[in-house]
Amino acid sequence: METMTFYKLLNLLMTTFCLGGIGITMNLVLSVHAIESPQYTVVRSESEFEIRLYKESSWMSALVQGTSFQKSTKDGFHRLYQYMHGANLNSYHMAITAPVLTSIISSSSQGYNYSIKIYLSVKYRGNNTPQPNTELNLQLDKWRTHCIAVRKFTGFAKDDNVNEEIETLISSLNKHLPGKSVIIDDKSSSIAQYNASFRISGRLNEVWMNVSGFTAEGCPS
Ligand SMILES: *[C@@H]1O[C@H](CO)[C@@H](O)[C@H](O)[C@H]1NC(C)=O
Ligand SMILES: *[C@@H]1O[C@H](CO)[C@@H](O)[C@H](O)[C@H]1NC(C)=O
Ligand SMILES: *[C@@H]1O[C@H](CO)[C@@H](O)[C@H](O)[C@H]1NC(C)=O
Repeated sequence: METMTFYKLLNLLMTTFCLGGIGITMNLVLSVHAIESPQYTVVRSESEFEIRLYKESSWMSALVQGTSFQKSTKDGFHRLYQYMHGANLNSYHMAITAPVLTSIISSSSQGYNYSIKIYLSVKYRGNNTPQPNTELNLQLDKWRTHCIAVRKFTGFAKDDNVNEEIETLISSLNKHLPGKSVIIDDKSSSIAQYNASFRISGRLNEVWMNVSGFTAEGCPS
């Protein structure tokens, strides 16, 4: 009964989310139920960035061809949202997780291929992953244990600021880790967004970049 109510409220919340309208009354509800995110440990912390070790994780991902980070993220999220809300073989309604990740996986003169991913709860790992309805054209991505460099930023993640945030992370890494044999996989950069679009202040976003060279800190080599 309690679970049913929770899902109804979540649906209501997500309707609000989509309409970008008044979400204020729902704040209380969500703060009672923590949103699940992948677990990590911080293995190195600097003022401008941190290095995190993430355990194995699973993500559901949508490929979108486009030219805009914002529009592609919205399109991909829309498909993932349907998947989470019943458009799967078992008609499961899954609680929303965070973050939503956007990465550019290839580019051409026509634009970019973006991959938009949502984190899959540990409850839905392995054999328990609900199969997405085929027309959503989603795929499951499994990540091994790995380390990433993270830069946090607030406000809205937009076409006109995400590249700058990525560049800033790369230069902070180069500045703070001279002489260390760090390999930054700048092709792996992703933008992680944690908050629904109706949240205006106190928003959290992050730039994520796969890094290697932190074996002394406990990262896999
Ligand atoms: C996107 O990926 C598809 C299929 O992998 C490929 O055919 C296409 O050229 C790619 N487009 C861009 C803009 O990179
Ligand atoms: C980062 O590393 C993980 C683990 O090796 C890998 O699965 C993932 O695809 C990489 N991310 C990107 C965006 O390349
Ligand atoms: C945004 O998400 C982060 C991470 O889940 C959370 O700590 C923060 O409180 C959220 N911000 C708002 C305004 O809800």
